[in-house]
Amino acid sequence: MFTRVERNSALPAGGNVLHFEGSPVPFQPGDSVAAALLAAGASPFRESPVDDSLRAPYCMMGVCFECLVEIDGRQNQQSCLTTARPGMIVKRQHGARTLG
Ligand code: FES
Repeated sequence: MFTRVERNSALPAGGNVLHFEGSPVPFQPGDSVAAALLAAGASPFRESPVDDSLRAPYCMMGVCFECLVEIDGRQNQQSCLTTARPGMIVKRQHGARTLG
C-alpha cells in the first residue's frame, strides 16, 4: 500500500532493523517507527479499546494517536513521533494501555 518516494529506495546493508511482532523490519536512518512499519507493509498497528476495530497511522504528525504501539515494553508510544533505532522491539497494542 505504501512505498518509499525515493527512486533508489534500496535499504542500506547493516544493522538498521527493528522487530515488529517478531519479524525483522529494515529501516533507513531517520525513519520514524511508523514510516518503517508502513514501508514494510505492517498494519494494523493497534486495536481500538472501544470496539476492537483495527487502527493504523493517519496523520503522521502526532495529532490523531492512531499509531500507538508498544515499544521496548512501553505501551502507548506514538510510532509516528519515535525515531527507529536498531533492535527496537515493537508490538501491536491491543485495547487500552494496562496500568501498573
Ligand atoms: S499517526 Fe497520528 S499521531 Fe501518529
